[in-house]
Order: sequence, then structure tokens, then C-alpha cells
Amino acid sequence: MCGIVGMVGENLKLEDLVISLQKLEYRGYDSAGIAYLGDNFGVYKKKGRIDVLRNGLKQKLNDRFFVGIAHTRWATHGEPNDINAHPHMDCKEEIAVVHNGIIENYREIREFLEQRGHIFSSETDTEVIAHLVEEEFEGDLLDAVLKAVKKLKGAYAIAVVHKSVPDTIVAARKGSPLVAGIGNGVGILASDVTPLLRFTKDVVFLEDGDVMVLRKDGFEVYNTDGVKQQRKIYHVDWDEKAAEKGGYKYFMYKEIMEDPQALVNALVGRVKNDRPFFEELEYYEELLKGADRIRVVSCGTSYYAGLVFKYFLENHTDIDVEIEVSSEFRYKRPHIKEGDILIAISQSGETADTLESVRLAKKHGAKIVSIVNVVGSTLDRESDVTLFMNAGPEIGVAATKTYVAELAVLYLLGLKIMEINGYWDREAEDILDKLVRMPELLENVLRKDPQIRELSEKYKNYRNFMYIGRGYSYPTALEGALKLKEITYIHATAYQAGELKHGPIALLDVDFPVFAVMPDDSLFFKTKSNVIESKSRNAPVIVLGTEGNRSLEEITGDIIHVPPTHESLYPLMMAPVVQLFAYHIADLKGLDPDKPRNLAKSVTVE
Ligand code: F6R
Repeated sequence: MCGIVGMVGENLKLEDLVISLQKLEYRGYDSAGIAYLGDNFGVYKKKGRIDVLRNGLKQKLNDRFFVGIAHTRWATHGEPNDINAHPHMDCKEEIAVVHNGIIENYREIREFLEQRGHIFSSETDTEVIAHLVEEEFEGDLLDAVLKAVKKLKGAYAIAVVHKSVPDTIVAARKGSPLVAGIGNGVGILASDVTPLLRFTKDVVFLEDGDVMVLRKDGFEVYNTDGVKQQRKIYHVDWDEKAAEKGGYKYFMYKEIMEDPQALVNALVGRVKNDRPFFEELEYYEELLKGADRIRVVSCGTSYYAGLVFKYFLENHTDIDVEIEVSSEFRYKRPHIKEGDILIAISQSGETADTLESVRLAKKHGAKIVSIVNVVGSTLDRESDVTLFMNAGPEIGVAATKTYVAELAVLYLLGLKIMEINGYWDREAEDILDKLVRMPELLENVLRKDPQIRELSEKYKNYRNFMYIGRGYSYPTALEGALKLKEITYIHATAYQAGELKHGPIALLDVDFPVFAVMPDDSLFFKTKSNVIESKSRNAPVIVLGTEGNRSLEEITGDIIHVPPTHESLYPLMMAPVVQLFAYHIADLKGLDPDKPRNLAKSVTVE
């Protein structure tokens, strides 16, 4: 996720462009930049937050411009530095482009353009757009952008300006948001409505495949064939603060609602010819071949994602997966030998215990494959290969959409390891197919939000919860309990359902509810009997199960259904439910879920 802005008008100062960009800082903050046409055509971009950009522009903030674009970056391709920062330019430095999204086929396009003599200066996927537009430009910017976007695969929202076109921005959208409006003599577009509200509350949301020509007094929208489209104007009655959170009360809520998009972003470019595909693993496939054991280290929610990976790979191959919480791994004899693979999972890429575990494993000859959200983080830099989550920045302290992204990358990696090691079969095909179709189903799960809030209302005053699940549902139980503990401060514990009768069942009574994670999988009837045992101790029961299973009603009236899927994929399907249940309880209790007490977003100390 990145933030883009475009402004065109008569009385604009660079300060206006920077203020507009600052409204989008939550969308990314590893570098920022602007391109503008005033007395000159200028580009200025810097690694770091927008304040660094602002400081660098101090002498120029009052300079006038007619047309300008701006970008705040959350890196996906290429580490955060001045060169990889947007805007990106063509060879003649006449065209500037800002982009939010991922261009899947950028390597092929870059090779083609390099053969035609284009010189690239950054490692980004975005730069190909500037050169493609240059290649197609024959005096008409709209025409050039229309031709260029036809060649792009992936997700994008782009804004393009040309040195010789002082009154127009051409923008395009597919898969990444873009909204535009006309204020008093100002045309403005952005990744969300926040920057627009200073100028207008009447806005148009671009649709996938739209290409827009924006001027100070109006706009036209075309499809990719250049045919004019009509788009509805919406009146947005938000204040600027609410708009930053997309109208949601908290970032955590917004980020849960972004679960399906995070899944899409994690999958983009990673399925080719109906097989999992990781460009990044090109040189490491040999290492994964013949592996009989894989080690995994991570903490908290990332550890639970790793646990799902263990169940997945061990259920489908003879490969052992040994997973350990990083803070334990780093202080044990590592049992690593030369060439072993260690997978490190970390949203932030800065978790101290995970970094130390990686350093220890490296010392003993392990190769490190990391799964990271923050490009350029320490873990990214210290790993042999990094598979990025591409979830965009997560502002809420509790991991939500990044858990979904971690799971997506781990499923794909598991499938890739199966393929490399000769375990590919019809079932693997089916799992991949269901994974690719999952984002739409996650949207359906999110539509259960009002029902989940109602249940949260009913259960918010209990002081203890017991989450249970077997097999793939055990990590979901752990994750549900963790979310509840950390943002509502209600005590919650999680057990493998079969362990209940070995002790914890003694806790259960009318004041100790059970949250049973029990999809229609091969262990359903086993879990069901554990739940019935809990009921006989008078514990209230919430069931998270599969649509269409009428037998759940024999257990309780408090059921949340999710659509059916392959049994290995239920952790992904059910993640939004346990996240929302905890979120609503926190909100209903008047607690701020974005900033839970005693916690920080990344744990950079022991
Ligand atoms: C829970 C949560 C934490 C993190 C853990 C690891 O909601 O956010 O448990 O998952 O601190 O963080 P990363 O993934 O950044 O290493």
C-alpha cells in the first residue's frame, strides 16, 4: 500500500501538495516524493517520512505550480531509498509517474524496454510505467497512458504528468483505490478522500479499468479502449480525521476490513500456470529440494501462522517442520547443520528475538528464508531470501491483515515445497484453486460483522474465555485467545480440544465460556464431543463452524458460520471472525484497540 496524490490548478503552492500528501502518511512512510510543473519541471524525493521531504523543500514550499503529483511509499520492490522513492521518470526526464500497487509483469516489460534502449535507474516495478508511457508518447498523454496500461498486469493506481502538458494529469486504476474531485479551480485525485476534503466533498471513485483525465475545472473518465464512461458523483460527509481511517472508528477495524485485499496482494504474481510461483526463490529451489526438515521461528501471531504452516506441510509431505517461539530458540542448542532451511516470520522484520534466532541459525550454516511485511527491515536485509507479505502498513498494534498475508504466503510456500519435492497432486491443485478464490469468500465472512458484534455484546462481560480447536483449528484458537487478551484485557486461554479433559475442563462453569473452532473437517466429530463435555459443565458455548452444518444447532444458538473450503484453509477463512469478535468487545467496553496497554507495534528489545 502506498499513497498517491495529484493536483492541477492555478493558485497552488508546493505546500498544498505536501499537506495533501501528509493526509495519506498512514498508507506508507518509508520514502516520499513530488514531481511538479511550475516555472520548471522538478522532482524531489527522499527516503524517510514526509517531514524529511518537507524539510528538504523548505525554501520552495511557497513556489507555485500548475500540475503536480506526490507519493508516500510503502516499499514492495526495491529497498526504501532516495532512488527507489517515487515519482519515477522516463529517460528524457519529461514524464513522471506515481504508483500504488504491484506490477506483476514488470520484469518482462523492463527486459523489453531495455532491449529498446531504455535506461532504468531504480529497482522498482513502477519505473517501467514511466518508460512505457515514454515509448508510446506521440504528443497525446491520454493516448500514451491508454496504450501503456494495456500492457500492465497486476494492481495499480497511477498518476502521470508530462513536462509539455501543464494543465492535465492522467490517472488510471485497476485493483488499487483512486478518488478524484474538483474544488474551486483545483482538480485533485488521491488514494483516498482525505486530501480531497479541503477542496470538495463531491467526489468520484474510479472503477477498475478506468483512465481519467483531470483538469482544474473538470475531468473525463475512459475505459482502456478509450471509450468515455459516466461515473456517479458521491457526496462524502466525513471530517478529515474520520477519512484517514476510511470512515472507520479505529485502524484495527479498517485493517480487518482490508483482510481480503491483503490476501489479494499477497497472492498477486505468485500463481503461474496453475502452480505456485515465487520469483524470489529462483536460486533457492535447490535448497528446498530434498529437505527432510524445515525450522521455523517467529513470535506471537506470526508464530501461530507458522504453526498453520507446520500442520500444512506435515499433513501433505514427509517433511518435518519444527517450529519454535524465537525467544526460546535463541537460547537453546540450535540443532542446525550446514544448508538447513530456517523460515523466519515477522510482520515488522524488527522483532529482536526473531533476529537473534536468525543470526544464531546463520552462524551454524542455515539458509534463511524470511516472510516479512516491511521492505528494508533488518530481517529482510539479513535473510538469504525474503518473501514479502505486501500487506501495506499496519497501524493498529494487533496484527490482523498481516496474519492473513502471512498465512497466504505460507500456504503458497508450502505448495511450492510440495511441488519441488514431488508431492504435487490433485489435492494440491484443489487447495491452490480454493486459495486463489478465497478473497471473495473473505468478503462474505466480513459481512457477518453485525452478527459478530451482537455476540460480542452478549459475551463482553465474561472475565474468562476458553478457546479450543483441533488440528488446523488449534492455531485459530490460539490466535483468537491472543487477540482477546491483548485488546480487551479479558483472560483467555487456548487448548487443543483433546487436552480439555487433561485438566483445563476443571475451570469450566457457567461463568467460563468456550469458543469452539470447529469447521467441517476430518476432526469435527472429535471436537464436537469435547464441546458437549464442556456444555455438561454448564459453560456457555460459541461455535465457529461451517455453513450448512445443521448439527451445530444441537450444541448452541451462538454460531458463526463461514463458507466451506478445503480443511487446511480454514485458518485463513476464520481469521477475520476471531479478529472481529475481539475488536467489538474492546470497542463495546470503550477500550482503544489500536493502542492496547503495555504493548508496542514492534518488539525491538528482548
Ligand atoms: C499480536 C501481535 C504480536 C506480533 C508479534 C510478532 O496481535 O501483533 O503478537 O505478532 O509481536 O511481531 P512480528 O510479526 O512483527 O515479528
